[in-house]
Amino acid sequence: PVIYGITPTYARLAQKADLTRLSQTLMHIKNLHWVVIEDSAEKTKLVANLLKESNLKYTHLNIKTHKTKQSTPTSIQKVRGIKGVAASGVEQRNLALDWLKGHLQKAEDQRGVVFFMDDDNTYSLKVFDEMRKIKRVGVWPVGIVGGMRVEMPLVTDGKVSGFNAWWKPFRPFPIDMAGFAINATLFLEHPEAKFSRKVQSGFQESEILKYFTTRDELEPLAENCTKVYVWHTRTQKPSIVNPQKLKRPLVSYDHIEV
Ligand code: UGA
Ligand code: MN
Repeated sequence: PVIYGITPTYARLAQKADLTRLSQTLMHIKNLHWVVIEDSAEKTKLVANLLKESNLKYTHLNIKTHKTKQSTPTSIQKVRGIKGVAASGVEQRNLALDWLKGHLQKAEDQRGVVFFMDDDNTYSLKVFDEMRKIKRVGVWPVGIVGGMRVEMPLVTDGKVSGFNAWWKPFRPFPIDMAGFAINATLFLEHPEAKFSRKVQSGFQESEILKYFTTRDELEPLAENCTKVYVWHTRTQKPSIVNPQKLKRPLVSYDHIEV
């Protein structure tokens, strides 16, 4: 199956660094199609060039997030690393799913797996081998997320029997976005499946999964969910001196893409 990696991304100081690291991980994966959706009104040269130079098979899309008032994060949201009530990536992932459905309808071979990838996470090559085994929805542990060293499905007799999650354990599926992948053809069977702006923070994963599976139908991977092959890393927001305050620039570096 083709792995469709769906990655929203937005302009910031460390964007190119994060995308470089992720693209170089993906260069090792056979049969991968990277769908990158910029959170912007226009596609940027930075992302366009990065994709072109990667030699990956990719699709470049863009849609700007409709900004609503964001409240300041609560301490719990800080633990998870959520900046405000509004979730990230909703419009971008939905646009990618629309693209995917059109793409699969035209495809000779519709076999594929959909994996929602943050641009700043860390992915072992092993997680891609795991997801090729998926029949409907596969799950595995995610390292350093939700206030825990590892959030993971608990497995009894080869079936998911519960979840080891501290943050909002009452979520229908207390799993991070990096902890599951979905058979792509299910999106053709359920074309209505998408992310929603209406759900509370942390419920995007449950929102999409509910269309396709129940807790006991989940397929535990990564050695019955005992191995960590993905980490919810977050790049620290860098602080640099305001360029306008640099009294004595040696040379202007505005023309350099960073
Ligand atoms: C966690 C989950 O890992 C995300 O998959 C989920 O979308 C997010 O929470 C959420 O529900 O808000 P976190 O590390 O807090 O992730 O979020 P980010 O990595 O900052 O954002 C997730 C993705 O959306 C990234 O690929 C990021 O580049 C993108 N993003 C973020 C945008 O496209 N626009 C933004 O304004 C912010
Ligand atoms: Mn992230």
